[in-house]
Amino acid sequence: MVKNRIIEITGAKYPFILGPMRLITLGEMAAAVSNSGGFGQIAASGLSTDRLRLEVKKARDLTDQPFGINLPLYRKNAFDALEIAIEAGIKTITTSAGNPAKFMERIKEAGLRVLHKVSSKEMALKTQTCGVDAVIATGFEAGGHVGRQGTTTMCLVPQLTDALNIPVVAAGGIADARGVVAAFALGAEGVELGTRFVATHECPTPDFFKQLIVEADSDSTILLGKDAMPIRVLKNRAVDMIQNPDKHLEDKHLRGDKADAKYIQSGGDADTAIMPAGQIAGLIKQIDRTDKIFLELMRGADLLAQQLKATFGGE
Ligand SMILES: Cc1cc2nc3c(=O)[nH]c(=O)nc-3n(C[C@H](O)[C@H](O)[C@H](O)COP(=O)(O)O)c2cc1C
Repeated sequence: MVKNRIIEITGAKYPFILGPMRLITLGEMAAAVSNSGGFGQIAASGLSTDRLRLEVKKARDLTDQPFGINLPLYRKNAFDALEIAIEAGIKTITTSAGNPAKFMERIKEAGLRVLHKVSSKEMALKTQTCGVDAVIATGFEAGGHVGRQGTTTMCLVPQLTDALNIPVVAAGGIADARGVVAAFALGAEGVELGTRFVATHECPTPDFFKQLIVEADSDSTILLGKDAMPIRVLKNRAVDMIQNPDKHLEDKHLRGDKADAKYIQSGGDADTAIMPAGQIAGLIKQIDRTDKIFLELMRGADLLAQQLKATFGGE
């Protein structure tokens, strides 16, 4: 494949990025994705600086391919995490949940490349002015935290590719070659997938979470925390209880307040864990290996491009 700007920025073989997932995409998962030709990422969210160092070392031991670190910028140890990335010789990072402006001087001085997650055109234009190398346009259908604006990937990506000079990665709602081709048709130069990678053999999350993704339907997710930091999660009893506490007064298993519901990697089961996932979960029908997913994305996109040419070409 011809190198585009996202491949040049990440250094990976394919323009596919592993969506960072809190306490899930750690050293082993990042290395597995990078070894399969994508850009693996370690999510720094929820990690102490020592643990982040350890996960970076694990990834280094398992791959000689490039991988990155995702830094949630609102966290107290974001500057420390940035220094760890620099120390470790990471070449490309991604940032989310905050303003990259005050980090840019150090990022540039260290020669790092940076992609920042945005959910609106206003944010994207501000971010471009800060000097980031690319944006990751995250649509409302994505798993995990989404923008309050409610703009979908389909609408956000072409508006950003028209408005920006820097390249755009599409995130949210992509799990197969059709999504990849659609994103590229909208002008994206790369795609970031999160939910698809939960249902992989390499993903270190409990089996019940993977199974729930495989069994999900098109309406299996819902938004929590709509006013503050909206997060898209799988519907289950814990989520229903947060939304309708009165309905569950007799529910001994889940009795308590919101604090009882725990993020998936902190314990719980299919009823009690909070499991971020995107609307595209309904399309995912089996647990696969990451290398198989990449091959299918590449071959499927090639085939679709030929079919599109046969339909629209030659006029
Ligand atoms: C379980 C889970 C945890 C996530 N944690 C993070 C995170 O720590 N930082 C972040 O920037 N994005 C996080 N995300 C968002 C993903 O990186 C990615 O952008 C998103 O999943 C893409 O949408 P998709 O799920 O439709 O593929 C998370 C998503 C999921 C499903």
